[in-house]
Amino acid sequence: MNTAPGAPLTLVVLISNQGSNLQAIIDAIASQEIHARILAVVSNNPHAPGLQKAKNAGIPTAVTERGDFATRKDFDRRLLQLVRDYDPGLVVLAGFMRILDDEFVEHFDGRLLNVHPSLLPKYPGLNTYRRVLAAKDGVHGCSIHFVSSRVDGGPVVAQTEVPIRADDDEISLSARVQASEHKLYPMVIGWFANGGLQCQYETIMLDGKRLAKPRKFAFTGLDETQESGKL
Ligand code: GRF
Repeated sequence: MNTAPGAPLTLVVLISNQGSNLQAIIDAIASQEIHARILAVVSNNPHAPGLQKAKNAGIPTAVTERGDFATRKDFDRRLLQLVRDYDPGLVVLAGFMRILDDEFVEHFDGRLLNVHPSLLPKYPGLNTYRRVLAAKDGVHGCSIHFVSSRVDGGPVVAQTEVPIRADDDEISLSARVQASEHKLYPMVIGWFANGGLQCQYETIMLDGKRLAKPRKFAFTGLDETQESGKL
């Protein structure tokens, strides 16, 4: 890890699919919103479109697939070795669809962030859009959290609330929540990169103070009504 004063934070980004959050992070680094450098993008899916996004930005990629290993333990060990060899300052989970084992989580304790499409602790796990629509909640959103050994259970740094509209379906709601992720995730990584954000023993410190509850943001970005010029 390069800890020289003024050196950019080094990242390894783990993906499994589209990599739209990866792209948002790449763009935020390019526009100097984040003082960081992506050492590598690692995927467990060789067909992840996000790998091409990394290549387009000149970022090295690596793939390790569960199917190439006899046991889950062997896969987990390889993944940890692969990421550890890059020696990143921060590991960024950006749509990585495998649960990391305890050894990985402990190794990167306090240096492992995830984005989850719900207002945690509500709706951990999969299919959050379907579940929140079925429950007829008025609001959904995204959370950026440090990863602990409890799935989607680590301390939450920040959340964006996205109001649910009467005519929302999974597609329209996920489009707005994802757009909110693309703003919030680079922002939080930026806090970490400039030294303002730390997490130790599941306690988050932000700008020198203990963060008792997540920083909340309202989503005011992508708005279909505005886009169609009706507002
Ligand atoms: C994101 O919506 C994130 O909340 C979830 O997986 C999705 C990944 O999307 N964990 P992308 O690959 O970044 O486009």
